[in-house]
Amino acid sequence: MRKNKGFFITGTDTGVGKTYVASGLISAMIKKGLTVSPFKPVESGCRMRKGELIPSDTVSLMKVSHIQESINTINPYRLKHALAPSVAAEIENVRINKKTILSAFKRLADRYDITIVEGAGGLMVPVYRKYLVIDIAKDLNLPIIIVSRPGLGTINHTLLTIEAAQQRGLHVLGVIINYAEPAKKGLSEKTNPEVIERLSRIPVLAVIPFSKNTEKGGTEGIFKGIVEKLIKREHLSGAN
Ligand SMILES: Nc1ncnc2c1ncn2[C@@H]1O[C@H](COP(=O)(O)OP(=O)(O)OP(=O)(O)O)[C@@H](O)[C@H]1O
Ligand SMILES: [Mg+2]
Repeated sequence: MRKNKGFFITGTDTGVGKTYVASGLISAMIKKGLTVSPFKPVESGCRMRKGELIPSDTVSLMKVSHIQESINTINPYRLKHALAPSVAAEIENVRINKKTILSAFKRLADRYDITIVEGAGGLMVPVYRKYLVIDIAKDLNLPIIIVSRPGLGTINHTLLTIEAAQQRGLHVLGVIINYAEPAKKGLSEKTNPEVIERLSRIPVLAVIPFSKNTEKGGTEGIFKGIVEKLIKREHLSGAN
């Protein structure tokens, strides 16, 4: 099987934990001896500081990856409004084009073993005109990992996301169920992973508990386990 140059982290929705998961995966891959860069093609909802837009996801992804790259390469487009990128871009008179996104990605893919891409919102979010987040994943030719909520409603959202991805010929590597909020484990949380696997035939790579601490004693070990699974299934080659 072809070893991947990167992974596209998407979610069933906004706020599900894509940045949290991407950060955990970046740290775990670096610990395996790989060079890893994040890539956030478009970030909306950026706050303004001293006349500049601050993309908080990009900033935190760059922090965990310890790389010295220009922020414009890691995040070619920043938008102020917390809206779908195409809508925010129209209001802000920003012209998004895919050439800029693809060439920034290529620069990273040429320099790093792995590039971890975080989409914006879910797969069917418009980036400009009819170009969607799912089209970025397709154009970058990356397999996807879906971050899902744990509770009621997630079977539907996760299966819809898998089906949309597969219909466009994307390779879905797995689902990561993430507790972005503290929640007690009810019957749906307990049964959802197995139901999602059975109906989609896509593996649930991990269930990540709510934990502010991503280091030792937190979720670090879980991310290490996910990376080891990716290596074992030959989606990734470990450097050591
Ligand atoms: N397992 C977890 N334990 C504790 N906090 C978490 C966990 N997962 C996510 N969070 C927190 O939940 C919030 C939403 O997560 P995150 O920003 O990663 O979501 P997202 O899918 O990237 O959102 P967006 O669509 O805005 O990019 C953040 O404050 C994050 O720190
Ligand atoms: Mg995010």
